[in-house]
Amino acid sequence: MDYVKVERRDGVAVITIDRQPALNALNWQVLDELSDALDAVASDAETRVVVITGAGDRAFVAGADIEAMQPMSVPEAREWAVLGQRIFSKIESLPQPVIAAINGYALGGGCELALACDIRIASDRAKLGQPEVTLGITTGFGGSQRLPRVVGPGWARQMILSGDVLDAATAERIGLVNAVVPAAELMAEAMKLAAKIASRGAVAVRLAKRALNVSMDADLETGLRFEAEVFGECFGTPDQKEGMKAFLEKRKPVFTGKW
Ligand code: COA
Repeated sequence: MDYVKVERRDGVAVITIDRQPALNALNWQVLDELSDALDAVASDAETRVVVITGAGDRAFVAGADIEAMQPMSVPEAREWAVLGQRIFSKIESLPQPVIAAINGYALGGGCELALACDIRIASDRAKLGQPEVTLGITTGFGGSQRLPRVVGPGWARQMILSGDVLDAATAERIGLVNAVVPAAELMAEAMKLAAKIASRGAVAVRLAKRALNVSMDADLETGLRFEAEVFGECFGTPDQKEGMKAFLEKRKPVFTGKW
């Protein structure tokens, strides 16, 4: 792959988008490669957690590629939005938790990419926004739907309707990112959190992600029913036996991640 690299270490897969001359903007090829990378990690039983980041120190992803979009017809633009949405939904429904390590500009499609991840950590140099209206377009890769779910309707409307770009501190204050860390420590912090999640019962982590996803779309009753389902499923796994036995024996659990 030319623009998307995948490195695996200790149960963590790091996906890096690397198209630095265009600040890692998403064109057809980058989207295709990202889609392939996600398929590969989804089916990799060894991968417990995924980290997505951008190459270089300027951008996470500075948006969908404006040069590629500029000549699009109405049907082509619709198809483009559907493609981007489908790939970002793959991130959301990936079995493993996904951490966005936001190392710089996360604008437009870049902010939407981060929103499809489970957890967002930003460098103090990051800037986040949905500047589509400054280009005469709406969000297309899920921003109008996921941003209100993450920051609530007030800030989502302000960001999307004004196109304003937020600094990292403001993004943290409104809950758009979970934490802001010095740029030089971003990957170490993301990997530390990834390692912590990877050390937990893997089946429980995957099932918990599914239940959290259901909570975003289902009514409470359906969500609670789903939670009871996955809670029960955990009790058929060796990790539940080990996790509770280890607690009672006052020692650290040794999880296998087996179903
Ligand atoms: N699509 C295509 N190319 C992009 C891009 C995008 N979304 N964002 C940046 N680039 C390219 C620039 O065209 C430029 O290419 P060039 O060197 O061939 O001219 C290169 O990346 C560097 O960007 P530049 O604008 O020169 O850097 P800057 O430091 O002056 O500004 C930004 C950085 C991020 C503020 C600015 O690039 C920007 O506003 N990008 C668009 C952001 C956006 O609207 N995204 C949403 C798209 S829906």
